[in-house]
Amino acid sequence: METKIVKVDPFGRDESLLIPCAEVLRRGGLVAFPTETVYGVGANALMPEAVSRIFEAKGRPQDNPLIVHVSRPEAVAPLVRDISKAAILVMEAFWPGPLTLLFARSDLVPPVVTAGLPTVAIRMPDHPVAQRLIDLAGVPVAAPSANLSGKPSPTTFEDTLKDLKGRVDIIVDGGPSGIGVESTVLDISGPVPKILRPGGLSLEDLRSVLGEVEVASGIPSQGPPPSPGMKYRHYAPKAPVFLVIGSPEEQAEALRLHAAKHLLAGKRVLILSSSENLPAYAALKENWPESLTVLELGPREDLARVASRLFSGLRHGDETGADVILSESFPEKGLGLAIQNRLERASGGRTIKPIAEPPHKSPARPEMNVLLVCTGNTCRSPMAEVLLREIGKAECPEIGLNVMSRGTAAAGGMPATQEAMRAVAERGLDLSEHKSRMVSEKDLSWADLVITMTKAHKRTLVERYPSYSGKVATLSEASGGAVGGDVSDPFGLGDPAYLRARDELEVGLRAVCERIRRVTSNRDGGKQDEDRSGK
Ligand code: TXA
Ligand code: MG
Repeated sequence: METKIVKVDPFGRDESLLIPCAEVLRRGGLVAFPTETVYGVGANALMPEAVSRIFEAKGRPQDNPLIVHVSRPEAVAPLVRDISKAAILVMEAFWPGPLTLLFARSDLVPPVVTAGLPTVAIRMPDHPVAQRLIDLAGVPVAAPSANLSGKPSPTTFEDTLKDLKGRVDIIVDGGPSGIGVESTVLDISGPVPKILRPGGLSLEDLRSVLGEVEVASGIPSQGPPPSPGMKYRHYAPKAPVFLVIGSPEEQAEALRLHAAKHLLAGKRVLILSSSENLPAYAALKENWPESLTVLELGPREDLARVASRLFSGLRHGDETGADVILSESFPEKGLGLAIQNRLERASGGRTIKPIAEPPHKSPARPEMNVLLVCTGNTCRSPMAEVLLREIGKAECPEIGLNVMSRGTAAAGGMPATQEAMRAVAERGLDLSEHKSRMVSEKDLSWADLVITMTKAHKRTLVERYPSYSGKVATLSEASGGAVGGDVSDPFGLGDPAYLRARDELEVGLRAVCERIRRVTSNRDGGKQDEDRSGK
């Protein structure tokens, strides 16, 4: 299907351009358009075939009902059985605006719109283009958010185009949506009004008019969810999203360590940061200018700004090819309730907790488990193991490094070779107790970072244990290129080859530690560094 693009003035004054769009809508076509919350994709709500096409275009599950949009409050009456006093109260207070209300549906509303439910969700958007378009169409318009099912809602024409090009008849470009999160869905049928989906209208605003208002808590373990949309994976870009919790300072600290682990493993990382915490990621950015993107969502005190940038922020992950997205949390007041709800759902429960404080209140020493892997676990990786323990103590004392070594094809219980023992003995290190071991899934699950000697080792591990591939990096990658390529196997080549391998390992592992230290230790933009040098 060819999608026509119609660019209009955001104030809805381009009547001549909107008339043909409204005509397409009225006759059963699909038209995407801006609202004050997010872009929606609309169909004539009174034409079941047209409404069905929305589900197809979005890949939306059939049992997730749509919101019917009207351009004036009078349009509600024919669609519903009755309008309660509470409904009139909030409609007068908040319409047009980001508030969707549930009513008992009349027979005029086709069951496909409400996914067979006895209730219909209705809202009057506060956007001149949406209002004018619906008004001109002269019919109620069923319109979900204009994203492909499961993805973050689009807040700009460009994001709408990316998802729906070729799937709808027209996309109306009316500039960016203002609010950035979807409408608040409210059930006012019971004695206490209940928010089914927090959104652009805050709980505090609703309470100021309705008194007591409760927020539905997630999905009940039994029975249908209060709002069918709550059970679906949602707002999710391609890369996994991790949500960091705790005080702003704790968040910055835990997020930095988490980001460093991924970056050391050669992954591309997107951080969604509050304005206040931006400086905390400056050192990370300096170290990984290519593979790290830090996106400023906005100040913690300006949640409207954060909301308006949230979905484009999540979508930015796809655009930058991020392997992982790490986001800060925001206070759950005002729009923050909706922001946190979207972030929690985008992350699907993946949270990063603050680095635990030990009981005696001294600053926590974060720990990192590093697994070193070669083939036989008798030469390179055992040398690397003792070297890294030693270098770690000197180079990054703020981090507790736990180190182990394994082989991809190790015969169990073999000692390190004599040459390996001699090479590290020159550094005062002892390998006489070493026993070789084959790498196992348990080792990979233990490790935060797995460093292999060669690309081939990495490939072997990734093939054997694909679910841990995100942790595995070659020494060359983990050291940021300090080691040029593979650390070649000295086995059988005599002492000089072992000494070369040892020196290469030293350079590489020192660079790894240096990177860990620089990105995880300067809590206040290098303040600790000054402390260290002052000692
Ligand atoms: O801001 C918005 O609400 C945007 C713009 C385009 O208006 N629309 C939007 O629609 O977010 P959609 O389809 O993406 O989300 C509608 C939500 C879903 O969670 C759905 O389950 C819920 O409203 N919903 C719709 N009808 C319902 C009903 N009868 N009972 C309970 N929940 C309902
Ligand atoms: Mg949606």
